[in-house]
Amino acid sequence: MEDFESNQEKVYIFDTTLRDAEQTPGAALGIEEKLEIAKHLARLNVDVIEAGFPISSPGDFDAVQRIAHEVKGPEICALSRVVEKDITAAWKAIQNAPRARIHTFVGTSNIHMERITRTTPERTLEMAVDAVAYAKSLCKDHPDATVEFSPMDAGRTDLSYLYKVVEATIAAGATVVNIPETVGWTVPSEFGNLIAGIKENVSNIDDAVISVHCHNDLGLAVANSLIAIENGARQVECTINGLGERAGNTSLEEVVMAIRTRRDYYKGYYTEINAKEIVPISRRVSRTMGIIVQPNKAIVGENAFAHSSGIHQDGIIKSRVTFEIIDPKEIGWKESKLILSPRSGRNALRHKLNELGYELEQEQLEKVYERFLRLADKKKEIHDADLEAIMSDEIRVIPSVFELDYIQVVSGTKISPTTTVGIRTEEGIVENASTGDGPVDAAFKAINQIVKIKLSLIDYQIRSVTEGEDAIGEVTLKVQDNGHIITGHGASTDIIEASAKAYIHAVNKLIQLRSEG
Ligand code: KIV
Ligand code: ZN
Repeated sequence: MEDFESNQEKVYIFDTTLRDAEQTPGAALGIEEKLEIAKHLARLNVDVIEAGFPISSPGDFDAVQRIAHEVKGPEICALSRVVEKDITAAWKAIQNAPRARIHTFVGTSNIHMERITRTTPERTLEMAVDAVAYAKSLCKDHPDATVEFSPMDAGRTDLSYLYKVVEATIAAGATVVNIPETVGWTVPSEFGNLIAGIKENVSNIDDAVISVHCHNDLGLAVANSLIAIENGARQVECTINGLGERAGNTSLEEVVMAIRTRRDYYKGYYTEINAKEIVPISRRVSRTMGIIVQPNKAIVGENAFAHSSGIHQDGIIKSRVTFEIIDPKEIGWKESKLILSPRSGRNALRHKLNELGYELEQEQLEKVYERFLRLADKKKEIHDADLEAIMSDEIRVIPSVFELDYIQVVSGTKISPTTTVGIRTEEGIVENASTGDGPVDAAFKAINQIVKIKLSLIDYQIRSVTEGEDAIGEVTLKVQDNGHIITGHGASTDIIEASAKAYIHAVNKLIQLRSEG
């Protein structure tokens, strides 16, 4: 955590990875996966976790409730429309959290009022005030609960109407007013003026914290959030890796590291984020949601601290600061000195995994150790990326109804590829073989017949985790079932095996999501 001075003001970090980012196609998570991410967000020390939208499904309700029960530290927030049944559900889900927040929202731009809610500005204002007052009445006996209000599409809302709504909802009891730039429309100078205008024209604005929630449709979400801070915002809503609806939301790591790295410029502000967790949580979210981080992504991309030109490499060798403005170790990038080999024992493996942010029960460690030894037999050295791949593959929080036991492939240019799979099920190992357009297709067809679920594949990506012929291949795929997009992930030195594992992972995830409702 950063040291800060008494004249500095805190910028609160409100993470909405489990709500706004979870709306990304293919990123839907099971309850246990959400819980694991929420615990990691607590280690990152975010101030607020928006855990979900409880009215949207029984599964989301249960996930928010579990997070409210089990995750200690941050305030736990639940989203609701300005509708009584939504607010009641949100409150039921979070009421047992030591610190709880109801976040209620309604569209206030003419476009949203005319085309979505089909209400007048007067009626929208009334609904917003009633919703805040109702939310406030629910939390009145809770020792530490707040109400946040969002006029959705604020960036395209008529200014004098926006001031009126913000003033009225603060008067009704909102202590955080969030200004959503829902469609990423405004440019930084406009958005800065918008926040300054709210500070100047809303008479009771000092009774609330101004928050901002920016989307990235023009790639300006981080810039808009930063200019908003300079103009009076003290809470930023953001997500890990900038994931979220469409082009995403403000990226948590970029805003936090801009404030921290440019402390000479952002002198007046600090966040309490534990920067060392930034890279580990970025990887966890990427793997769990199945969305690969673009290599040139600031702060957390694979190339963010890679130097390829001779001049840059020479500069870095002479002095790191010549071409790096952040010390990668400060944010959890590892410079591995401990190389694991087939001779390494469980303790070395556990130590290395702890460094990478994983804490394993003995039983999980045994499973990973066995897998590690198999890989170490094939490779001379095991790198962090190999371990990350093993971890994401082995330590699943989705229960394995089906598990790949073995796979055999017969393929060639003049024969139909045939893949045989042995799958561990509740009834024991079931074997099936199928032909297909290629060995991967054949594997998926063979699996379909065993699991009796037919999924349509809509995306398939493979990447090599480390270098060399013996590198681990990681497969991330997306399948569709009844309009739901599910992501599966698998890793192996054999790409057909990695593909089969990824497909079975998606099947298990689908079964879990169906059971959660
Ligand atoms: O983008 C948006 O406006 C939202 C609101 C629900 C805050 O996500
Ligand atoms: Zn949003």
